This record gives sequence, C-alpha cells and structure tokens, in this order.
Amino acid sequence: MLLGVNIDHIATLRNARGGFEPDPILAAEVCEENGATSITAHLREDRRHMKDSDIKALMKVLKTNLNLEMAVTDEMQKIALEIKPHSVCLVPEKRQEVTTEGGLDVAGQLLRITNFIQPLVETGIYVSLFVDPVEEQIRAAANTGAQFVELHTGQYSIAFGTSEEQNTFNALSEASRLAHALGLKVNAGHGLNYQNVHRMRQIPDLYELNIGHSIISRAVFTGLAQAVKEMKELVK
Ligand code: PXP
Repeated sequence: MLLGVNIDHIATLRNARGGFEPDPILAAEVCEENGATSITAHLREDRRHMKDSDIKALMKVLKTNLNLEMAVTDEMQKIALEIKPHSVCLVPEKRQEVTTEGGLDVAGQLLRITNFIQPLVETGIYVSLFVDPVEEQIRAAANTGAQFVELHTGQYSIAFGTSEEQNTFNALSEASRLAHALGLKVNAGHGLNYQNVHRMRQIPDLYELNIGHSIISRAVFTGLAQAVKEMKELVK
C-alpha cells in the first residue's frame, strides 16, 4: 500500500505568521525523500492554507505525483486544467468547516459530476472522488468516468477503540471490495493516525492512503528536540 502525505497544515502554520516558514514546498520534498508516493494539497476556495503559487511551485519540484484536492467548482476546474496535476480528488467544501466533513454526494449529483470530470479525464488527469463507504455512492462513482475513489475513513477513525469500530471497518472493507469489482482504484484517508492505521492493511484492494494531520502533528515532537538544541547552540 502506498502513502500519500497531505501537507496542508504546513501551509496553515506558515500562514499564521504570513511569512515564508515553514515552507510547504520544502516539506513536500522531505516527505518524498522519506517515502511518500504522492503529495496532496487542498486548494480551498478561501485559500486558508495552500495558495495558488504553492500549487504551481509543487508542480515544478515534485518528483512523485501531485494530488490536487479541490471542490466541484468552475474556478477549480479551470485551475486544474491549466496546471494539470497528476490527479485531482474532488471533495465537498463548506466555508465554515474546520476540515472536510463528509464524502461527496455523487449519487445525488451524478450528471453534474460526470460532466465536471469529463474535460479533466480527457486532459489526462486522474480523477478521484472522496466518498463515504456506502454502496450507493460507490456505484454512482463507477458511473461518472472517475478512475479512483477515496474512501472516507473519518467514521472509522472516530469509532476506533469503541464498540462501533468493527462496523465502520466492515463498511470500508465492503466498499473497497465493491469499488475494485466495479473497476475503480481505491484510496482511503481522513483521521488516520499512528494507532488506527494498521487495520487499513487488512482492507482488500487498497492502493494508497492519504494522511496529513497525524504526520504533521507527530513531526512537531520528533523534530522539537533537535530544533531547540540548534537554537541553544546559537544563543549560548
Ligand atoms: N483525504 C481527504 C480527501 C481529505 O480531505 C483529508 C483532509 O484534508 C485527508 C485525506 C487527510 O486527512 P487527515 O489530515 O485527517 O490525515
């Protein structure tokens, strides 16, 4: 199974000061050097973390694949067609949300999404639909022309360690099996961390996991000791 790393929160931290550090582009290169097989960046309507210039810079420097996460809007379609990332992952987007809250309702807007995807696929961009592990959504996704689904692991992550864990895990397994049988490649992500990720290896046919928050959170602690030592050297 492959590991894609979402670097949005590096940009969140940078934007907190409005300067240049930490640099998400450099972060992406470090992720690649250490085994990431793709880099995900979510260009939100409000540009709260990644900026248009970040996406362009990533396209220049990445040795692996850029997975551009974006909403189903004309603005984002135009940007994707200009930039031509390796793949796009379509997600629902609400201005007020802290992070992507649920999967895309593909079944409820089949024609809109099918039409939206068509020029992207014709340009050679792989399209992934971020969906809840629900049969209706998987079947709809297979009818749109998208090549991938990304299964929303949020419910599993929340339920991990509770009596609901097994049900949410079963839903992911069944959804993955069905998507694969319908000819889709299957990614998964959201809320995966160092405790709950191991069960993803038991899910059939998973291709790549996309993980962000837990990796960036852990990096603070695995890097803090060295960062303090280096500053201490400079000030002593
Ligand atoms: N996949 C999708 C579609 C997402 O929206 C996100 C969050 O931006 C992730 C994966 C990564 O989730 P997390 O940051 O919780 O690892």
